Amino acid sequence: MRIVVDEPSTRTRLTESIAADTRADYVYSYPPRQAYRPFDEPTAAAVPDLIARSLRRFTDLNLYVHVPFCRQICRFCNLYAVADPNADLDGYVDAVLAEAAGLAGLTDRKDVTTLYVGGGTPSIMAPAQLERLLRSLLDRFSTDPDRPPPETALEVDPATVDAAGLRDLRAVGFTRINLGYQSMVDGEVRGLGRRRPASAGLSLLEQALAVGFTDVCVDLIYGLAGQTDEGWLDSLRRVAALAPPTVCAYPLTLRPFTGYHKLGYSSVDGATLYRRYETADHVLREAGYRQETHVRWVRDGGGYRQKVNHWGLRNVLGLGAGARSYLWEADLRNGYSVRSRGSVLRSYVDRIGAGGTAVTDGFVMSDDERQRKATALNLMALDRGWAREVLDFDPVTRFADEFALFAELGLGEVGPDRVTLTREGVKYRDLLSQALFSREVRARVREFGYDE
Ligand SMILES: C[S@@+](CC[C@H](N)C(=O)[O-])C[C@H]1O[C@@H](n2cnc3c(N)ncnc32)[C@H](O)[C@@H]1O
Ligand code: SF4
Repeated sequence: MRIVVDEPSTRTRLTESIAADTRADYVYSYPPRQAYRPFDEPTAAAVPDLIARSLRRFTDLNLYVHVPFCRQICRFCNLYAVADPNADLDGYVDAVLAEAAGLAGLTDRKDVTTLYVGGGTPSIMAPAQLERLLRSLLDRFSTDPDRPPPETALEVDPATVDAAGLRDLRAVGFTRINLGYQSMVDGEVRGLGRRRPASAGLSLLEQALAVGFTDVCVDLIYGLAGQTDEGWLDSLRRVAALAPPTVCAYPLTLRPFTGYHKLGYSSVDGATLYRRYETADHVLREAGYRQETHVRWVRDGGGYRQKVNHWGLRNVLGLGAGARSYLWEADLRNGYSVRSRGSVLRSYVDRIGAGGTAVTDGFVMSDDERQRKATALNLMALDRGWAREVLDFDPVTRFADEFALFAELGLGEVGPDRVTLTREGVKYRDLLSQALFSREVRARVREFGYDE
């Protein structure tokens, strides 16, 4: 991540960035992962206590499980994933459940409100493996293990399921699936380095909508290599015509060591990204969607509860290799690499096997950083009463200069109850979020030399 909006003059950096169509990466967590560091010995020893104290704070809990296995590594991918056709999936479930056993010892049972299985491609697991995972986790953590959390979600590669498979996933208890289409244009999909049979096209989305999930989300990316404005419009129109409850449209994040980078695709034109964002917003609103964030449009029961809870500072406890936990006291991570993908998995399994912690690095939160987190992530619509109640601060007085600047530039509005961004402000939300980063977080991100 590049720090675009920096001191000494936030105003100058912001106005210059907007004038030059400069983009900032999507800020989906604060601090961004480039600010994570391995802990020193005393902090590492205190990790179980940081987890226990965080979980004690709330009666509810969000669980995230990372399943890193994929059929191939896509050219744009900077997520933690491994492509191993011989992966021991049952062994992996055993490791995650062993990790869960250790973590459950740190807490009493909770009201598990969301359980999200992401990756990687968790849909390459058999329904029976997913069922064992879900049931065992609820047995460990939930006050009511027989009741699936209201949002029980699975990330699905459309090429890994058919109509019968979708029904099996519903029967296992998933209420929401996230279909990682990325594009509806065949040539663009091939350019991702993905194999996708014709059966995984729009008909699969129709079948998914008919199966009875509360929410079906379609993920799309703009800025892909070879993508044209027409191709982007085509993807949006085809998806909108079928009206899935949630559509996520992400600007491409490009990183070193990915397939794209090796092929020489190492920068995306900012003006193109802003233009495609506006196309998405226009097409989806016309189709009856409401914008929930700058990357998500919803209708008819759509949404993404775990993300809303994360941004609302509720605890998200992550399990598995490459998983991240977003907790009251700290953000924690169970390894990450796109250069040495296999070693992260081996080291995770070894550490869990030896009875140790899976956590490799992270960031310990302070009151100041929590206030920045609440503000930077929820800039589009920040409830002042909520901030006072949960964090004992008023964002408008705490960040008076920043909000005055946003209002002056026509990007934000300060109301008695809520701070909001204007339509134009939402477009620049990731630039504006950077204005809330602390000095320490900026410095850490800047000195992060190896930007995977
Ligand atoms: C956590 S990822 C899901 C990974 C899942 N294996 C997949 O590719 O479908 C959620 C979504 O983020 C988006 N995404 C992943 N990598 C991205 C990147 N480098 N730039 C922009 N969006 C990305 C994709 O739309 C993806 O479906
Ligand atoms: S983009 Fe998704 S499917 Fe492709 S390698 Fe990354 S995690 Fe796997």
